[in-house]
Amino acid sequence: MITRAKRFALVLPALAALFAAACVDEKIVFQDRELFEEPLTQAMGFLGYSDQANKTTTCGNCHVGTQSQWEGSQHSDAWATLVNSGGQQEFCNGCHTVGENGNLIEGVAGFEATGEDRYHDVSCESCHGPGLDHVTDPEATQPFASMAVGQDLTQGCAECHQGTHHPFVEEWSQSAHGSVNAFPAGRAECESCHTGEGALKTWGVDADYIEKASLEQPGEHMAITCAVCHDPHGSENTAQLRFPIDVANEEQNLCMRCHHKRGTPDPTSFRGPHSPQGPLLVGTAGWWPPSLEFNGPIVATHGSERNPRLCAGCHVNSFTVTDAATGDFTFQATGHVFEAVPCLDPTGKPVAGGACEESEKTFQTCTTAGCHGTENTARALLANAQSRLNSLADELEALLAQVPESEFSTDDSRYTVGEGSKFNADLARIGGSAVHNPVLTEALLIASIREVKEEYGLTSSTHLNMQRILGGSTAGQD
Ligand code: HEC
Ligand code: HEC
Ligand code: HEC
Ligand code: HEC
Ligand code: HEC
Ligand code: HEC
Ligand code: HEC
Ligand code: HEC
Repeated sequence: MITRAKRFALVLPALAALFAAACVDEKIVFQDRELFEEPLTQAMGFLGYSDQANKTTTCGNCHVGTQSQWEGSQHSDAWATLVNSGGQQEFCNGCHTVGENGNLIEGVAGFEATGEDRYHDVSCESCHGPGLDHVTDPEATQPFASMAVGQDLTQGCAECHQGTHHPFVEEWSQSAHGSVNAFPAGRAECESCHTGEGALKTWGVDADYIEKASLEQPGEHMAITCAVCHDPHGSENTAQLRFPIDVANEEQNLCMRCHHKRGTPDPTSFRGPHSPQGPLLVGTAGWWPPSLEFNGPIVATHGSERNPRLCAGCHVNSFTVTDAATGDFTFQATGHVFEAVPCLDPTGKPVAGGACEESEKTFQTCTTAGCHGTENTARALLANAQSRLNSLADELEALLAQVPESEFSTDDSRYTVGEGSKFNADLARIGGSAVHNPVLTEALLIASIREVKEEYGLTSSTHLNMQRILGGSTAGQD
């Protein structure tokens, strides 16, 4: 009942304004504008613009809030972009206009069926489907949009955001965000990050969409689809993102909102780190031994203003792939495999989850904006930092192997030096820690080694020259 009242509150003022103008104002005579203009039969029920000069969609006559949000998005300029490109051809039109692309309609509709100007731009019905029935009787049926992205590229955003010039869908669907594991089903504590609808719910996005009802059933979960990260109607953030990417704050940053499950130990749990990337980057991760006197977080270089796009600065970057022989354009990579240093296929396209040699991964993300001189410098820095962390973790784990089992008991109420140190060793082993915050991770390992020795009266294992490690100062040396 509450949602219903809210909807009318949204809709009625707009209707009232339309009528009031014509009836009440005595000096200026307003022509009552039709709420919608009857479409041609072959348009298949699509309505498009109501007032094209003012960019008012037919839907926007009532849904004024969404209308103004959409007006600020790139979708509302898609036709002008196409025309101004100077390269317009007939086959371009379907993705820069309203019609069968982006919704459940198949066959030719909207612009492609009529060629009428009212269907210019990517607007409401591109995603919501034809609105004629709804506008005729808003309460009878509502044209919900789909949040799903079909792997067959014929659904939702996929229908337009595909192909060699913008293969967002092709890349995303291979990525870890493009599929759902079985385990979150029915477990709200896992769904909030591991499923698309769970994340939206946690973030307070309660909008209705086609899949929402069926998703109440455990087992039918939606991946982290395009419109989980991107607000379909537009936003003040770059690329219509629902949350900013340039704020180094776990509660606000789009990526960190999920990538922060357990960066610091939970004393009631024996479990190790779980997606600690956010806390690492902002410098709060790990078990901080009592003897370690840190004054506030140890922020990673990559978590500072030197890398303003933070996670996305390394993990979401586009680049153009050209044919090695001819130099011709072959492919635009969009960064939507979400890997910082992905493997490439023989044609140079990034592939998610690739198992290539370290030397075959592309490090070009590190050279954008002049951060690192060459790919090889960046590759070597990472390898050095990683081997340094590995040596320290080896040492710590060798010491921990000598600590009595009882120190790791899960059913006593103590959180021991052994447990905390094990957390830090695990943190160092997680992929990417050597780049997410090598300085903090190293400090944690060194402090843990000291604590474990003191607490349990142990001496260093012989295989590691601690003096050599501790004598050096910065990560990147060996
Ligand atoms: C004449 C005014 C009017 C127009 C024009 C209109 N709508 Fe609506 N719309 C409403 C009303 C009223 C409701 C609430 C209906 C209900 O739930 O009973 C609604 C509900 C909706 C909902 C469901 C909202 C929810 O919270 O679940 C969607 C989606 C929607 N409209 C999309 C559109 C689209 C797309 C268009 C353009 C094709 C459009 N509307 C045009 C009046 C309008
Ligand atoms: C009918 C085709 C079509 C559909 C469907 C579509 N888009 Fe787009 N989208 C475009 C076009 C064309 C542009 C480029 C517009 C321009 O630059 O003028 C664009 C641009 C964008 C941008 C770039 C915004 C920016 O500021 O850089 C984002 C993000 C985006 N779309 C997300 C989505 C999402 C998410 C969906 C699905 C919920 C979606 N689009 C559905 C055609 C479409
Ligand atoms: C399969 C759907 C599709 C077709 C066909 C298509 N476009 Fe687009 N176009 C898009 C999408 C989606 C974007 C937004 C991409 C982005 O933001 O990276 C876009 C963006 C653009 C842009 C903005 C610059 C850019 O690349 O982001 C121009 C210019 C453009 N298209 C021109 C064209 C021309 C010219 C054609 C025909 C030769 C064409 N488009 C055909 C979907 C399409
Ligand atoms: C606060 C967000 C969040 C919550 C809640 C969460 N996870 Fe995760 N989890 C992530 C992120 C982000 C990753 C990917 C990053 C990584 O692998 O380090 C991940 C990775 C994983 C992985 C390893 C990758 C894989 O899919 O094989 C497992 C297993 C996992 N989570 C299980 C769970 C289980 C079980 C729950 C519920 C008890 C849960 N997670 C709750 C954010 C979360
Ligand atoms: C790029 C695709 C896309 C475009 C364009 C688009 N929508 Fe939506 N719309 C969605 C999706 C996906 C949802 C559900 C998720 C959300 O709201 O964040 C939605 C939700 C809605 C809702 C339900 C909100 C609620 O609170 O339940 C309404 C109403 C709506 N859209 C109206 C419009 C109108 C009016 C326009 C044009 C001015 C428009 N949409 C343009 C994809 C789109
Ligand atoms: C995990 C979050 C996430 C998901 C899921 C996601 N994106 Fe993005 N997308 C981003 C980020 C981050 C950027 C980069 C924004 C920036 O740096 O300005 C981006 C950028 C874009 C852009 C603008 C690119 C440009 O050249 O300006 C488009 C278009 C886009 N995404 C479309 C999509 C589509 C389509 C999907 C689904 C197939 C999708 N995204 C899924 C996070 C996401
Ligand atoms: C809605 C929650 C959510 C958001 C937002 C999100 N992620 Fe993820 N991410 C996950 C989950 C869950 C996984 C693990 C999926 C799996 O393996 O089942 C994951 C996996 C990944 C992986 C691959 C990890 C691996 O072990 O292969 C990378 C890299 C990644 N995310 C980066 C990012 C970046 C960068 C952003 C921001 C642009 C982002 N994520 C935003 C939830 C999220
Ligand atoms: C300075 C660049 C950089 C920044 C900033 C960055 N990462 Fe990474 N990330 C990497 C590199 C490099 C790897 C290691 C990839 C490898 O070993 O193949 C990595 C690994 C990961 C992994 C594990 C993937 C795997 O395959 O094991 C996840 C998940 C991840 N990053 C998420 C994030 C998130 C979330 C953020 C922001 C909190 C972030 N990263 C910030 C560069 C970066």
